Amino acid sequence: MGQFAFMIHPLDIASVTRQFPWARFIPEPVLGAILRRMPPFKISTITGIRSEFGSAHGHFIVCPVTTRQFVELPEEVTIKKVVATGRLAEKLGAGIVGLGAFNAVVGDGGNVVARELDIAVTTGNSYTVATAIEGARNAADYMGYRLEDVTLAVVGATGSIGRICSEILAPEVGEIILVGRNTATLEELRGDIQSATTTPARVATDVSVALPDADVVITVSSAVDSIIQPGDLRPGAVVCDVARPRDVSEKVAAARDDVLVIEGGIVSIPGNPELNLDFGTPAGTCMACMAETMILAMEERYENYTLGRHLTVEQIREIDQLARKHGFAVSGFRAFEKQLSDEELDGIRTRARENRVRAGLQVSS
Ligand SMILES: NC(=O)c1ccc[n+]([C@@H]2O[C@H](COP(=O)([O-])OP(=O)(O)OC[C@H]3O[C@@H](n4cnc5c(N)ncnc54)[C@H](OP(=O)(O)O)[C@@H]3O)[C@@H](O)[C@H]2O)c1
Repeated sequence: MGQFAFMIHPLDIASVTRQFPWARFIPEPVLGAILRRMPPFKISTITGIRSEFGSAHGHFIVCPVTTRQFVELPEEVTIKKVVATGRLAEKLGAGIVGLGAFNAVVGDGGNVVARELDIAVTTGNSYTVATAIEGARNAADYMGYRLEDVTLAVVGATGSIGRICSEILAPEVGEIILVGRNTATLEELRGDIQSATTTPARVATDVSVALPDADVVITVSSAVDSIIQPGDLRPGAVVCDVARPRDVSEKVAAARDDVLVIEGGIVSIPGNPELNLDFGTPAGTCMACMAETMILAMEERYENYTLGRHLTVEQIREIDQLARKHGFAVSGFRAFEKQLSDEELDGIRTRARENRVRAGLQVSS
C-alpha cells in the first residue's frame, strides 16, 4: 500500500478560528504571531483509497502559515516552515508529500523544498491542469459553445498552472487573452504562444478590461482576495475557478444568473475514501492536487513529480491516464461549494442565451 502525506495551510484567520473556536477570543495580530511559532501538526488520517490496481494510505498535515503570511513574510521564513512540515511527513512514513495551495508556490514552485527533503515531493499541479481543462471544456460544451468560436481568457496566465493551460488551449480557441499583472512576462508568453499557433493572442493587466470580451475564463491567479466581480463578466460566460482562495467573488453567485461559474479541480476518489477533514467538497471527492499525490502513492512512484513553474504536456497526459486507470474522475458542476442542480444549470443556460441575444453576441447552435 502506498503511503503519502498532503500538506495544507489555513487559507485565512477565519479558517483557523473555525477549526479552533477558542482562537476567536485572540486578537488577529496575536493569533498571527502564535501561528508563526506553532509547529506543524497532523490534522487527519486518510483511509479507503483503493482501485483494482493499488491502494494508498495518508495524512493531512498542516503548515501553520496563512495565505496572507505566505505573501507578506520573507520567503526564507515560509520555506523553513514548509520544510519542517515535510519532515513531519517523513516521520509519518510517507513516501511522497504533496504541497497544497501556497505551500506549492514558495521556493520556486516546490523545488527548494524538494531539495531539502528525503522523500518525494509534488505540487499536484499537473493533474490540476488536466482537470481544469476538462472542467472548462465540459462547461463550454454544456453551454453549447464550440471552442474554435470562443474567446478564452486565462487569469494568472504566466503562473505555473495558467501558462500550460494557455499553451494547451491556445491552438483550440478562436482568440486568447492572457491576463496577469506583469506586462513583460505576459508579452513573453504571448510570443511563445504566437510562435506555436496562429490563434490571435493579446495580453491584459486588468481583469475588468479583459473579461468582458471572454466567453470562457480559466482563472488561476495567486491573488489573496477575489479579483473577479459581477460586472466583469460577459453574458453567458463560463468561468472555471481553479484558484484557492477563489478568484471569483461570491457576489457573482448572487448578481449574475446568466454565467456558469464552476469550481475547477474537484475529483472523485476511487474506493471507500475517508478524508476525515472537511474541505467543503462532497464526501468521496478532493482537490486535484491531493488526487495527484494519492495517484503517485497508489503507483508507489516515490519520485519528485510536478515541481517548478514550467509544467510539461507529457506529465499532464501521464497523470491524467494514471488517474483514469485508478478511477479518479472530474466531478460534476459545482459552484461556491454547492453542486449545481439540473434546474439551476438549465436556468443559467436559458438566461445566458437570452442575455447574449440581447447583447448581440453569438449563441449556441
Ligand atoms: N484546485 C486545485 O487543486 C489547485 C491545485 C494547485 C493550485 N491551486 C491554486 O491555483 C492558484 C495558482 O497556483 P500556481 O501554482 O499556478 O501559482 P503561481 O505559479 O504563483 O501563478 C500565479 C499567477 O497569478 C498571477 N497573479 C497574482 N496575483 C494576480 C492578480 N491580482 N491579478 C492577476 N494575476 C495575478 C501571477 O502573475 P504576476 O505575479 O506576474 O501578476 C501568476 O501568473 C493558487 O490559487 C493555488 O492555490 C489550486
